[in-house]
Amino acid sequence: MNFALILAGGTGQRMGNVQVPKQFLLLNNKAILLHTLEKFYLLKEEFEKIIIAAHPSWFAYTRDLIEKNFAPDAEVFEVITGGGTRHDTVKRGLSFLQNNFELTSNDIILTHDAVRPFISYKIIKENIEKTLQFSAVDTVISSIDTIVYSEDGEQISEIPERSKYYHGQTPQSFKIQELIDIYNNVSEKNLDNTTDVAKLYRLLNKTVYLVKGEQLNFKITTPFDLTIARALLERDGKGD
Ligand code: CTP
Repeated sequence: MNFALILAGGTGQRMGNVQVPKQFLLLNNKAILLHTLEKFYLLKEEFEKIIIAAHPSWFAYTRDLIEKNFAPDAEVFEVITGGGTRHDTVKRGLSFLQNNFELTSNDIILTHDAVRPFISYKIIKENIEKTLQFSAVDTVISSIDTIVYSEDGEQISEIPERSKYYHGQTPQSFKIQELIDIYNNVSEKNLDNTTDVAKLYRLLNKTVYLVKGEQLNFKITTPFDLTIARALLERDGKGD
């Protein structure tokens, strides 16, 4: 079985003083979260369930949003509550799966940020194919700018070879049982020091393969990103 876990448990502090968490801000009159879900919905045959982990204060709101927009097909989705950190949210998704499905060692989960609405079908498909084959994959894009490394933030320590550096995106996708093992084996300290699941694999010396991402699959984090996202939809004439 394949599952998608859409991470929508954050509050979007870097978006500044907005009324709602950024995943509910509108792009062409439609919540960012809905844009993201539509991409997965069009590949619904690939998934046993598409799970949305919502912030507890926005759980009912999220469920209503999905009922209204996907009825009579809303059962493709399941809304659960997320946790206090991104890792806690992923772990809650895993607990939901363990409690509700007979999992086998081949079952996989695609974890995707709710605020990357421009994900392509190609990226989703490649995540599924490569995770079935290799067990753990991370979606990345090549670094365009030179990477400058500084120990102290004052002077350059090193300029590493750019062609070997990538920017991490999502999905990050895993064999579910292996991901559960990773969370059982990683120290609390390492959990506290990173928000990235692939990093936990590397800390435990596990292999993670790459899937080619796309620049368009950027994360909406700041007001600038929101402006870009709105301009892109306007340019493409995509309404709701
Ligand atoms: N996320 C989550 N649960 C958390 C924290 C984050 O599901 N406890 C999700 C966010 O909703 C988002 C994704 O992880 O879709 C990427 O995180 P980020 O962009 O950092 O989102 P926020 O934590 O909401 O933003 P900020 O760091 O600006 O507060």
